[in-house]
Amino acid sequence: MGKVGLGLAVGCAVATCAIAAVMVARRVRSRRRWGRVVGVLKEFEEACSTSVGRLRQVVDAMAVEMHAGLASEGGSKLKMLLTFVDNLPNGSEEGSYYALDLGGTNFRVLRVQLGGRRSAILGHDMERQPIPQHLMTGTSEELFDFIVSSLKQFVEAKGNDSDLSPGKRRELGFTFSFPVKQTSISSGILIKWTKGFAIADLVGRDFSECLQQAMSKRGLDMRVAALINDTVGTLALGHYHDEDTVAAVIIGTGTNACYWERTDAIIKCQGLLTNSGGMVINMEWGNFWSSHLPKTSYDSDLDKDSPNPNDQGFEKMISGMYLGDIVRRVILRMSQESDIFGPVSSKLSVPFILSTPLVAAMHEDDTPDLSEVARIMKDVLEITDVSLKALKLVVKVCDIVTRRAARLAAAGIVGILKKIGRDGSGGITSGRIKGGSHCKMRRTVVAIEGSLYTSYSMFREYLNEALTEILGEEIFRHVILKVTEDGSGMGAALVAASHSARNIQ
Ligand code: BGC
Repeated sequence: MGKVGLGLAVGCAVATCAIAAVMVARRVRSRRRWGRVVGVLKEFEEACSTSVGRLRQVVDAMAVEMHAGLASEGGSKLKMLLTFVDNLPNGSEEGSYYALDLGGTNFRVLRVQLGGRRSAILGHDMERQPIPQHLMTGTSEELFDFIVSSLKQFVEAKGNDSDLSPGKRRELGFTFSFPVKQTSISSGILIKWTKGFAIADLVGRDFSECLQQAMSKRGLDMRVAALINDTVGTLALGHYHDEDTVAAVIIGTGTNACYWERTDAIIKCQGLLTNSGGMVINMEWGNFWSSHLPKTSYDSDLDKDSPNPNDQGFEKMISGMYLGDIVRRVILRMSQESDIFGPVSSKLSVPFILSTPLVAAMHEDDTPDLSEVARIMKDVLEITDVSLKALKLVVKVCDIVTRRAARLAAAGIVGILKKIGRDGSGGITSGRIKGGSHCKMRRTVVAIEGSLYTSYSMFREYLNEALTEILGEEIFRHVILKVTEDGSGMGAALVAASHSARNIQ
């Protein structure tokens, strides 16, 4: 080989080495970035851990806080509100009742006809519409205009008052799904808004009175016979169909639970007497907090950026309003740490752009190439050409967030069972009995509603799995979670009926 040939060969070898070095360096960098993304995910997963041991600590904390909230006003972050619902519908209710349901994503108007025999709901009409976004933060005038005009139109279209005796007014059960300090079965003061509602002049006012005035002003002759929380409506419908129903849980846009409590356990209201010896307590568990809850930096950021910081901590980890936004925050961080999603999309910084139904759709995508995940990444977050490997990480984020939420909700439910002595232990003071399989357990039904449980099967599976883990198979066999469709609205009509002078006489 001549000098020129040798020179060329050496040059080629050097160039090849240089290219190889660049490629190796690129690969090393990319592997490092991938490693960082996986690190972000691992760290998140660990911070969200809900081992059964930790869930049991949450159970205990829930039961302890329930006691504290019943012992004194302001004794706990759990408000444990009186509802004045001291008897639950049992099937003897009769007549025609209207109901309004305000508080989730949808607004519902109903008319329910009750036949006076068990399970004899003779029929019901219902109209449902999404609540226009602007009304949630508008004026009280606009909100009441919307409510009363919808109700009026409904009465005009569906009203058939042949079952009203002359001189009697139409009666309305009003489900208002926010924290309310009740002053009677049909009146109460709005403590605060949740779930993105913010109409300042209504806080501290009697919502039922405001509605009554709005109806009179618009010429609608109807009496608010009951003002209830959606959990109470769900419990009422659950109990109507199954008398072993002792508690109700909602896991939808927001989350909450209520249950039947003995009046002597409601220490903060000494001397409270009811014919039944009990009353439904609206826990407002969305505001529950305990140091045992697995809180991450993403939760802290979400809370800090929310209109109600330091408030509704449990709800922010569990309910549909927030899960999508936790997922968005984690994907944003992963994108900032690497280029696995290309350049950081500005859409990733838009709060609430990723809704929980989208998280469910990604989580449950069973196509081999995760085409639904890719579609949502593209259409919603404007992130295109994501590798299958990276799409799988997105699914994993959805899984971690959903699993934590469902398992915490399960712990909350067992907390209630523990408080009322239905968890197979001897109640809050005695803990679990060894050989618990021998203890007598009564059939215990918990009514449940809300889109996370009813429409998101992975969520439902995780919740049920955690219940079995915490309670053990044997006890879990006695605990039945029953979906009560439209319970929050139908239940309002039932409570109006069971507390109406017409039925009490
Ligand atoms: C409200 C509760 C309600 C729950 C479910 C929460 O944000 O504070 O009153 O029951 O959402 O709708």
